[in-house]
Amino acid sequence: MAMVASDISRSAARPTVAGRALATYKLIGVEPISGACGCEISGVDLRQPLAADMIAEIMTAFEHFAVIVFRDQDLTPEEHKAFSRYFGEIMELPQAPTYGDHRDMQEVRREADEPENVVPSFENFHTDSPFLLRPPKCIVMRALDVPRWGGDTAFSNAYLVYENLSDGLKQLLDGLEVVYSGADIWSKNEKLPPEKRLRLRESHDLTPDQLTSVHPAVRVHPITGRKALYVTTAYFKHFVGWSEAESRALLAYLQSLAQQLHYHCRVKWQKNTLIVWDNRFTLHRGVHDFKFERRHLVRTTVLGERPLGPTDLRAQ
Ligand SMILES: [Fe+2]
Repeated sequence: MAMVASDISRSAARPTVAGRALATYKLIGVEPISGACGCEISGVDLRQPLAADMIAEIMTAFEHFAVIVFRDQDLTPEEHKAFSRYFGEIMELPQAPTYGDHRDMQEVRREADEPENVVPSFENFHTDSPFLLRPPKCIVMRALDVPRWGGDTAFSNAYLVYENLSDGLKQLLDGLEVVYSGADIWSKNEKLPPEKRLRLRESHDLTPDQLTSVHPAVRVHPITGRKALYVTTAYFKHFVGWSEAESRALLAYLQSLAQQLHYHCRVKWQKNTLIVWDNRFTLHRGVHDFKFERRHLVRTTVLGERPLGPTDLRAQ
């Protein structure tokens, strides 16, 4: 059958993945994980300081795929931090347990004898710490110990969720703000049965006021201007000017969209896998489908900008 003109122009166009045309990479290997987000990067040794042109390619892949995965990276904590600083300033978190003596690293750990339902509130897709005035830009996480099967981390692309909404709902969300608060997580945690409690950091320097923030429901990338949904159940209180019941109804619908498989990628951890994910424009969740095995991941958290909304862009 003869090709029509539109087919020819499409086949000549650069391949499209994660909602954008694939860039050309000269120094690193880039293999997309799914059509929605995530790529594996090869040809980089993260123990070494990296050349500026290689960092630029890694950042291009990070902006495009929002989740970048490196394999076989046997790093010391200092090497892990040095790589993280290419993305920005490392921050401490008030709530997540720290890793050993490193106050500026956190750990996610489940021992082999712990039940699989130990972190119920984070079994939904979420972004980390949206209650902070400047929530994390990205998380740099490395696997020390992984189950033989299961314990993957899944990601959902919040740009694509927003881009696939109707114009009517986009317009509504563009004008909305969300109140997020982490002020009550310690008191809520204490009321849970011990086996369901989160491992939380016991002390931090933030005041209750610093644990609550109002952010736009639609977040805009500060450089590209691309828009993404920034509404998620974890720490959500309500939309500004809306009742809690109204807020929860819309939230439930929006959260259901993030579950759809065509927005996802899923990464299987191996020992020394390192993942950097954009915490501003993706949602993530650990998959707790493993039993009687240890899972130990360590991470740094990189400080983000105060979230920009569509009205902030118009004001510039
Ligand atoms: Fe998380």
